[in-house]
Amino acid sequence: MIQTLMEESTIAALRQRIKEARQAGKTIGFVPTMGYLHDGHASLVRAAREQADFVVMSIFVNPLQFGPNEDLSRYPRDLEHDRKVAKAAGVDLLFTPSVEEMYPSRVLTNITVSQVSEPLCGKSRPGHFDGVATVVMKLFQIVQPDLAFFGQKDAQQVAVVEQMVRDLSVPVQIVRCPIIREEDGLAMSSRNVYLNEEERKQATILYQTLQHVRSSIVTKQPLDRIIAEMKNMISTQPLADIDYAEILRYPDLTAVKEWKSGEQVLVALAVRFGRTRLIDNMILTIS
Ligand code: PAJ
Repeated sequence: MIQTLMEESTIAALRQRIKEARQAGKTIGFVPTMGYLHDGHASLVRAAREQADFVVMSIFVNPLQFGPNEDLSRYPRDLEHDRKVAKAAGVDLLFTPSVEEMYPSRVLTNITVSQVSEPLCGKSRPGHFDGVATVVMKLFQIVQPDLAFFGQKDAQQVAVVEQMVRDLSVPVQIVRCPIIREEDGLAMSSRNVYLNEEERKQATILYQTLQHVRSSIVTKQPLDRIIAEMKNMISTQPLADIDYAEILRYPDLTAVKEWKSGEQVLVALAVRFGRTRLIDNMILTIS
């Protein structure tokens, strides 16, 4: 079946389209993105197609979630390419609002999810998860999806959104989807285009490190030793500048005091290569 891709850039027009889909008895699946789409984003759409009747994707580079010294103005954009990827993956309705449409006046309402947004990226990017929670809540209000799809690539983001949805009784089911990787293991990311050839080569150390420590964790080796091992391994790459290498309980993101059988842990890495900050992670169940 050839899919037609509808696109709206105003909230009112989008709501009308979604109302029509609902009136036709369709369930709504939602995939929020910031565009520059790759197969990681497409995998969320494929999951949404399987679990919902009508798939809405938003493309919006959200200024609220970028710090003053971050890459908002140079964040990669290519809407023509994105339309093709979205259509091929099976999006029904694309939402491409302007900043003015989303934020016509200064935003005075802010959603802060405490605790889960504090460690890891919350520490290195103050305010980031407030911006994420606020825009995701706003998008949920606009789209009112039955299901919303998020990638484990941003595991802390999923934890923050799940906590917000629980705390505020938002009527949406959050679906966490696996990390999609390049052939050499690098997690797909819109930011990978910033990497030069040498940085790109060395960046594979993130996935290699996660793979390397997997068995030490499952067999409950001492935490400090595993963290040191991860840092040593990443530091073998001269261009790698470690932001964090941590292991926390998942999904509450509190400290691991002892290995408890059956508990889930998040092994999370953030490493800079030149001006590009990459993240990767793995969620494991302790045996
Ligand atoms: P963005 O970075 O564009 O990512 C959109 C979604 O795609 C997120 O749920 C992210 O986890 C997922 N994703 C990215 N790379 C992936 C990969 N390699 N494998 C699987 N999923 C992947 O995350 C955001 O945008 C924003 O913070 C947003 C939620 C849209 C709010 O502005």
